[in-house]
Amino acid sequence: MSSEKTNQSWGGRFSEPVDAFVARFTASVDFDKRLYRHDILGSQAHARMLTQAGVLSEAERDAIVAGLDEIRSEIEAGTFEWRVDLEDVHMNIEARLTERLGVVGKKLHTGRSRNDQVATDIRLWLRDEIDAILVELNRLQAGLLQLAETEADTIMPGFTHLQTAQPVTFGHHLLAWFEMLSRDHERLVDCRKRVNRMPLGSAALAGTTYPIQRQVTCELLGFEAIGGNSLDGVSDRDFAIEFCAAASLAMMHLSRFSEELVLWTSAQFQFIDLPDRFCTGSSIMPQKKNPDVPELVRGKTGRVFGALTGLLTLMKGQPLAYNKDNQEDKEPLFDAADTLRDSLRAFADMVPAIKPKREIMREAARRGFSTATDLADYLVRKGLPFRDCHEIVGHAVKYGVDTGKDLAEMSLDELRRFSDQIEQDVFAVLTLEGSVNARDHIGGTAPAQVRAAVKRGRELLAKR
Ligand code: ARG
Repeated sequence: MSSEKTNQSWGGRFSEPVDAFVARFTASVDFDKRLYRHDILGSQAHARMLTQAGVLSEAERDAIVAGLDEIRSEIEAGTFEWRVDLEDVHMNIEARLTERLGVVGKKLHTGRSRNDQVATDIRLWLRDEIDAILVELNRLQAGLLQLAETEADTIMPGFTHLQTAQPVTFGHHLLAWFEMLSRDHERLVDCRKRVNRMPLGSAALAGTTYPIQRQVTCELLGFEAIGGNSLDGVSDRDFAIEFCAAASLAMMHLSRFSEELVLWTSAQFQFIDLPDRFCTGSSIMPQKKNPDVPELVRGKTGRVFGALTGLLTLMKGQPLAYNKDNQEDKEPLFDAADTLRDSLRAFADMVPAIKPKREIMREAARRGFSTATDLADYLVRKGLPFRDCHEIVGHAVKYGVDTGKDLAEMSLDELRRFSDQIEQDVFAVLTLEGSVNARDHIGGTAPAQVRAAVKRGRELLAKR
C-alpha cells in the first residue's frame, strides 16, 4: 500500500487508508477552522521558543513565522483550501506550511502534539471571546445606568408572585438588572484567569524530551501561568465548562429580563414601548408587533444551558489524559460564546431605546393597594405592634375591595373605622411618592437612592 493513500501525518504505521466515512466522522476541520488565528499564534510562539532552545535555526524560525503569516492571509482572503482528509485546523495549516516551505515546515511540530496544541488554541480563543463579551456587557450596563438615571422618579408597581406588592421606581427596577450583570462580569473576569493558563509544552501527555522553555512561550502568548502538570494540561476542559457555567448564569439573567420586556410590551401591561427595529410583525394579524429580540434571547438561553450540560457530560467519564472525546468540546463552547455575545449585544442596543409609558406604570402602581404596607408601618409609628397593624390594614383593604376604593381614595372617617390612631397625616404616607421616598437606605427604591446607586455604578464601570 503506497503511503500516499494513507494520511500523510501518520501513514507510516498504517497499511490501508482510513475509510472515507470514518475520515469525515472523525474530522473536526469544518468547525475548528475558526481557531486558525490562535493556532497560528501558538505555532509562531512555539517556533520562536524552539530557536531559543537551540532546536530550530533562526532562518528556520523566520521561514516558519513568515509562512504562517502568509497562510493566515490566504485563509482570510478565502483562497485557503480546507481539506477534510487532513482532519482538523492544526494539520491543515501544518500541511500547507510544508507545501510552502518543504522540509522546514515539517520541523514545526517538534516537541509538541496536537493535544497540547488544541488545548492552547481553545484557551487563546476563549480568552479573546471573553474580552469581547465583557465589552458588550459593559455597554449594556452603561445603558442601564443611563436609563435608570432618567427614570429615577418614575413609579411602577413592584411585584411578588406577579401580584402588585409595593410601589417601586422604574430606575430601581432597572438597577436590579445592573447588579445581576455586575456579578456576571465578576464571574467572567474570574473565569478568564483560569482560562489563561498555558498547556503548551505538555506535548502528547507526558511532556517532551526537547529542552523547551515554557516560560518563553508563556510570555509570548500572554498567558498568566504555566500549567503545572502535562497530563492535566492536555485533558481537562474545566475552563470551558466554567465559562459555560458563567455564560449560563448571564443568559439566565437575560432570559428573566426578556420575560419582563415581553410582559411589559403586552397590551395587558403596556409599561414600555420597544422601537420597531427590535420587533417584527405578523404575516396574518395586521395589528401585531412582536418583541422578537427578547423572545429569542429567552429561547437561546436553552442552548447555553445545553452546552454546559453537554460539556459536563463529555468530561465525566474520561480517563486521563487526552481522548478523542475532547474534540466534541468545541461546538458547544463556540455556540455558548456566540449566543452570549450576540444576546448581550442585542440587549446593549435595545435597552437605551426602551420607552417607558410613565402614566400607565403609575396608574398600575396606584391600583392593587400597593401602599398597604405603608399604612401598616404608619400605625407602627403610632405605637401599635406590627401584627395588629397588619390585621387592621387587612380589614381596610377588604373594605376597599368591596367598595372599589384604593386606600388613598378613602376619607379620613372611613379610614378611622379601622383604627382611631389614623389622622390627617396618613395621606402623605398613602401616596406613591411618599411610599417610595420612605425607602431611603442603601439598596432601597427611593429616587435619591437610585441616583446614588447610579453614581456607584458609574464608578464601578470606570474602574474596569
Ligand atoms: N482535532 C483534535 C481535537 O479537537 C485535535 C487533537 C487530536 N489529537 C489526537 N491525538 N487525535 O481535539
